[in-house]
Order: sequence, then C-alpha cells, then structure tokens
Amino acid sequence: MKILFVCLGNICRSPTAEAVFREIAAREAPDLTLEIESAGTAAYHVGSPPDTRTRQAALRRGYDMSALRARMVAPQDFRRFDLILAMDRQNFDALQQRAPAAVQDRIRLFLEFAPDADATEVPDPYYGGVNGFEEVLDLVEAAARGLLQHVRVESRRSTSSPP
Ligand code: 4NP
Repeated sequence: MKILFVCLGNICRSPTAEAVFREIAAREAPDLTLEIESAGTAAYHVGSPPDTRTRQAALRRGYDMSALRARMVAPQDFRRFDLILAMDRQNFDALQQRAPAAVQDRIRLFLEFAPDADATEVPDPYYGGVNGFEEVLDLVEAAARGLLQHVRVESRRSTSSPP
C-alpha cells in the first residue's frame, strides 16, 4: 500500500505524519509492505528540510526527520498512491481540484483516522508558538495509529482468497 501525506508547505505537518507513520508502522507492523511519502500543495519550500521547530519537537518524541526534503504534489502522485491524506480542508480542496475524476476517492482527511480526536483538521503551526508543534504531534500520532489499523484490515482483505 502506498500512502501520501499532504499539507501546504511540506515542512511541518505532512513530513511529521510521514516520519511518525513510518516509525509506528515499522515498529508495530514490520510485515506490511508500505510506501510512505509526503508533499505540499504549495511550492514555497521545495527542497528544504522540515522546519527546525518541527524537527526538534519530533526528535523529542523519537522521530528523526533529518533525511526529509520538501516537494510539491505531482500529477503522477494521484495514480501512484492508494491513499492521499490531507492535513486540512484547504489542502483537501486543492487536491480534489487537481486530481483526475477517477481517483477522487483516494483523497481523504487524515484525521478521519482519529475519530476520537477533538479536531477534524491538523492546524497549521507555522505562525504559532511551541504548543502548536506538540498539538500537531498529538493529532498525527493518534491518526497514525488509526491509519495503521485501517491498513492492516485492507491488507488482510486483499491477501485473503475470495469465497
Ligand atoms: P505546513 O506548514 O503546511 O504544515 O508545512 C506551513 C509551512 C510554511 C508555510 C505555511 C504553512 N508558509 O506560509 O510558508
């Protein structure tokens, strides 16, 4: 299964989701074959490493983001990835506008996988304080666990033989 996380700049929220989900999946479901990437809908930070505040907050929880570099969503991503998970409604709408009609159902809000969270969107932490980066991590960790459950169920379904 191939999963793409998407935010605006690809330096705060979606690379956090990429790093957290990769770590949790490797630890809790090493048997699954996954491709995990992230991208932005805007070009401002293409080629940059994740925001320093994002990297430091992630590292405090054991997630190493040092190898990541920002890129933009590309037209081929819409067919390459099975799930394209937007961090907020603005990026969800931008993805829907760019995606071919046949693959619209691959685009979802990431926090659908955290039904018990108080939020439906991961708030943009870029212009806020330190707490914003912790909140991003809290929401991303909750949704990453829910997503891993979903991926487990999907992979069992696709490998079990039909009746
Ligand atoms: P992200 O955060 O979408 O979570 O990567 C942002 C990063 C940069 C900007 C906005 C949001 N910016 O305006 O440069």
